[in-house]
Amino acid sequence: MNDDLETLTTRTDAALAGAADLRAWDAVRIAVLGRNGSLTSMLRDLGKTPPEQRKDRGAALNRLKDGLTAAIEARKAQLEDAALDARLLSERIDPTLPPKPNQSGLIHPIARTMEEIAAIFGAMGCTVVDGPDAETDWFNFGALNIPAHHPARADHDTFYLPPRAGSETPMVLRTHTSPGQIRTMLAKAPPIRVIVTGRTYRADHDATHSPMFHQCEGLVIDRQMTLGHLKGCLIDFLRTFFAISDLPVRFRSSYFPFTEPSMEVDIGWNRKTGELGRGGDWLEILGSGMVHPRVLANCGIDPRQWQGFAWGMGVERITMLKHGIADLRPFYESDLRWLRHYGFNPLAPTMLHEGV
Ligand code: DAH
Repeated sequence: MNDDLETLTTRTDAALAGAADLRAWDAVRIAVLGRNGSLTSMLRDLGKTPPEQRKDRGAALNRLKDGLTAAIEARKAQLEDAALDARLLSERIDPTLPPKPNQSGLIHPIARTMEEIAAIFGAMGCTVVDGPDAETDWFNFGALNIPAHHPARADHDTFYLPPRAGSETPMVLRTHTSPGQIRTMLAKAPPIRVIVTGRTYRADHDATHSPMFHQCEGLVIDRQMTLGHLKGCLIDFLRTFFAISDLPVRFRSSYFPFTEPSMEVDIGWNRKTGELGRGGDWLEILGSGMVHPRVLANCGIDPRQWQGFAWGMGVERITMLKHGIADLRPFYESDLRWLRHYGFNPLAPTMLHEGV
């Protein structure tokens, strides 16, 4: 009476053995155990079996179900193992293959210089702050003691923007990072130690000027800050950045509306060879000074209690000097040959102990 059960077992075993992948396996499972599967139909038909045979038939069917379920699951495990083996084999890596040349990205020299600046001033306690590229006239000029019609405005070749909708405030593309000083002093009570790095804009374009360039500004405000602190800080920075421990540094009296006194900073070099550190010539590298009391007062800081110093420099300029890059224009041309030559390994980050 149970011939049909044996047949089903034999057939299922054969079908399972013939199922080469999980898809074929699933078809077998559904044909046997699915809603209209052979075994399911047999169980459904149990009610039609004469009552005296029903008990035995029922028990036999349940045993068969357990047996078939186990066989089906076992085959599934086998097929899964085989699939995994095949995948591992296909994904095997050959570590002896040579690397593909020029496939990794490189750090742009501007970004690298900004990282180095942040590492050096960071070690002196400065944090890096950011500011918007489009500034109001007041942040870019007025608060920095450069009122309308001040002759210093003429030096800046400013890009003027229309006022924002609903406002009459004149806007400019920031001509320097100095508005970052104002934003910092308005946002934060002293003591302050920050640098501001970012894009700046002036309507100027030739081999040494670009309408968009980068600057780094610094601002330190504390009680009893002196010119001595300014000089020590900038001498340390320049010697570390250019990795020349005895780099000659000269402070030359100058004028900026937002500092008093103001100083231009020069480093020693050889004008003929371009070599830094010796040669008896001087090269202007950055502007600096003690923050003008009026600028402090504009930001609500009492100049009788707090003093500070500030500096600003062009990132492209010091990058060109440090790495012997002669032309400014390729900085912005995205020429991969240039980048391959001057770019930096991203996996070798700036570290102070290397003496950047
Ligand atoms: N903002 C000046 C410029 O772009 C540079 C500068 C000079 C910044 C003196 C300063 C400073 O913070 O103290 O030409």
